[in-house]
Amino acid sequence: MAKENKIKPKVTLVGAGPGDPDLLTLKAVKALKKAKAVLYDALVNEEILNHAPNAEKLFIGKRKGNHKFSQDEINDLLVEYAQKYGYIVRLKGGDPFVFGRGKEETDYLESFGIKTAIIPGITSAIAVPAAVGIPVTHRNLSESFWVITGTTSNRKMSEDIKLAAKSTATVVILMGMEKLSEIIFTYKLNNRDETPIAIIQDGTKTEEKTGFGTISSIEKIVEEKQLSSPAIIIIGEVVNGHESMLTYFNEAFPEDEFIYQNLNVNPM
Ligand SMILES: C[S@@+](CC[C@H](N)C(=O)[O-])C[C@H]1O[C@@H](n2cnc3c(N)ncnc32)[C@H](O)[C@@H]1O
Repeated sequence: MAKENKIKPKVTLVGAGPGDPDLLTLKAVKALKKAKAVLYDALVNEEILNHAPNAEKLFIGKRKGNHKFSQDEINDLLVEYAQKYGYIVRLKGGDPFVFGRGKEETDYLESFGIKTAIIPGITSAIAVPAAVGIPVTHRNLSESFWVITGTTSNRKMSEDIKLAAKSTATVVILMGMEKLSEIIFTYKLNNRDETPIAIIQDGTKTEEKTGFGTISSIEKIVEEKQLSSPAIIIIGEVVNGHESMLTYFNEAFPEDEFIYQNLNVNPM
């Protein structure tokens, strides 16, 4: 009689946070420690993999010169690895359910009878602005915030940006750099030339780059500073007053001193 396979495969989708490896949850660390294999994306800081010393690691993200896996290939790899290793972690940048295709992956796995779980992560949509001192909401300034993809699956600018440009909401745009001129045009059509805007590339990472301006000035700043993806675009009054903020990692200050300075508190 064939030997029964006792391993019940399980996959946990884990949010790796925005970039700084310390912005990881304790639950994520526990899952990584137990994992027999970890499949991870390009936005994941590889230092985080040190929490999974015994796991087989597989990079399945997009990176220049590398084979780009299609979502179908990723789904099949997840099934294959789960069946081979038993317990695996699928590590994704930010939060798995914020423009992360997380639900597509869990649905696919479940269709093979593989159990899934989610460990939420700190999304770049909120953390990247916050880390340079931009709150997505602020009393009497912004009553809501929208998180929108700049580029939809058919490579067009999201129609939601046209609606958002008419509101006073803080607008946080992910995957928007390719569509920056269209976004700016949309805001100008709504007479929003003077609205503050910030662009943060590689937020919370040592290589972070920032650009602050207004709708009418930002394109020039982007060109001067050579800002590109991955970046977050933040539009709204909440950006105002943060032009002179230091970046998250500033060489001029030891890390803790920098944080206390910007929070305006005395560490002692
Ligand atoms: C496919 S989405 C994934 C978002 C992710 N699930 C999250 O919750 O942060 C990728 C986009 O997120 C944004 N992004 C993610 N991490 C970032 C970072 N550290 N700095 C700037 N933008 C970032 C960029 O707009 C990038 O193109």
